[in-house]
Amino acid sequence: MKDPVTYHPGVGPARDDAGASASSVLEARSSRRAFIKGVIASGAVAGSGVFTFGCSPDQPAASSIERLISLHVNGQVRRVDVLPNETLAMTLRYKLGLTGTKLACDRGECGACTVVIDGSSTYSCSTLTHMVGDRQVRTIEGLEGPNGELHPVQQAMIDELGPQCGFCTPGQIMSAVALLEANPNPTRDEARHAMSGNLCRCGAYDHYLNSVMRAAQGV
Ligand code: FES
Ligand code: FES
Repeated sequence: MKDPVTYHPGVGPARDDAGASASSVLEARSSRRAFIKGVIASGAVAGSGVFTFGCSPDQPAASSIERLISLHVNGQVRRVDVLPNETLAMTLRYKLGLTGTKLACDRGECGACTVVIDGSSTYSCSTLTHMVGDRQVRTIEGLEGPNGELHPVQQAMIDELGPQCGFCTPGQIMSAVALLEANPNPTRDEARHAMSGNLCRCGAYDHYLNSVMRAAQGV
């Protein structure tokens, strides 16, 4: 059996010789310590390389370089600097000031960030802005009529007392708008299905559904 004091894995053959000199034991311990320090140091360098590789204070990483693009939002062309990994929700809210689009889960689960892109309801938190291209983006702000009047879906939401806290409401409205523009006379089940990607923590689902059915008569 190997002597637990003098056995040093990784630093040469096992030391079974009970007669090993004190200096050889110390030498082995010191080698082991140096080996472990080396492993830790190389791990630290490799880890830091993840963040610093290819960068210098004067040369930002490619992922942090914004590029100027044109976005078609609510009937206007908006010029905006966008990071490669930036989501449409971030661009709309924090670059273009369109804060009607809400951010909640930020991972495609709740629908608070829903906008309409080329007629389809879309989670803007899960859409890279650079992927939008020339498609037409509509947000809740874009529903306003020329004289400030509400969109029929918005009016129906008020008439049916749809919102409670209201946080999910812009997303609910944009999903309803996309539905009614594609299918102006949905059945209640079709409307329920179209709205199923929009969660409401207040549980106002029936009110929202009533609103969609009411709006369907006026859109
Ligand atoms: S914030 Fe986009 S789906 Fe929840
Ligand atoms: S009205 Fe409050 S989360 Fe829907």
